[in-house]
Amino acid sequence: MQQQRIIGIVSGKGGVGKTTCTVNLGLAMHLFGKDVMLVDTDITNANLCMHLGNYSPPAGVQKALGDNTSPLDIVCTHPTGLNFIPADISMDFIDTELQATKLRRFLRDIHCTVLLDGPPSLENNAQAVIKSSDEILVVTNPEMPSVIDSLKVIKFAKMLEKPVLGLILNRNNRYFSLTKENIEQVCGEKVLALVPEDRDVKKSIFLKQPLVALKPYSATSIAFRKLAAELHGETFRPPGISFLRGLLERFS
Ligand SMILES: Nc1ncnc2c1ncn2[C@@H]1O[C@H](COP(=O)(O)OP(=O)(O)OP(=O)(O)O)[C@@H](O)[C@H]1O
Ligand SMILES: [Mg+2]
Repeated sequence: MQQQRIIGIVSGKGGVGKTTCTVNLGLAMHLFGKDVMLVDTDITNANLCMHLGNYSPPAGVQKALGDNTSPLDIVCTHPTGLNFIPADISMDFIDTELQATKLRRFLRDIHCTVLLDGPPSLENNAQAVIKSSDEILVVTNPEMPSVIDSLKVIKFAKMLEKPVLGLILNRNNRYFSLTKENIEQVCGEKVLALVPEDRDVKKSIFLKQPLVALKPYSATSIAFRKLAAELHGETFRPPGISFLRGLLERFS
């Protein structure tokens, strides 16, 4: 039986790319031959199922937490083979709050790498996700407000003695942006992946296909594939023709 490893994907600031990173990192791990389960823990604004094209999943995390359903009974599978547990998108659960002990108990049956798509902020639900995780990955953008909110999340995780794996610097670009070094200095953590600003992210959400599947040789996908390997203590070496294929993908 594979060992469980729960990685919380969090940010502080909203809209920085947590769900995009969860989906693409998860698919990169899956294609790398690892067992992985994505879980939508952003129960107020559940988005994971939309990135994966399942707009009305039959059951979600909130109901399952309420009636002690096993997570394994509500698993959905994307056509790529990637498994995920959606959160309910209806208004019925608007008052539901996550409780760390309950969430941890709920996740107990999942014996693989679990990526929790976290809610924004550091409010109760976000705190519960951090408390339920074994390790934390922090997504940030190269802008000071996002970096400062990431720093708060890092400090909170450290207060709880939760290991912080590092940062994913998402939407990286050259214009009016903090550098990787600036961000590492402010946060005191390493940037593990530099994910560029990429207009194909929008296209991939529209097509319900993670970018790692849609354009596997793009710089964005290569960043996620490298990170997926590194998080499993392995190395991803892009094949020699990657650059050329990446160029061709840009025009497709
Ligand atoms: N690397 C990228 N390049 C361009 N656009 C991106 C990139 N990453 C994310 N986006 C865009 O940013 C938007 C927000 O992304 P996403 O929903 O993943 O953020 P989030 O942190 O999960 O948001 P929330 O805090 O609301 O859960 C999406 O509409 C997506 O198109
Ligand atoms: Mg999200």
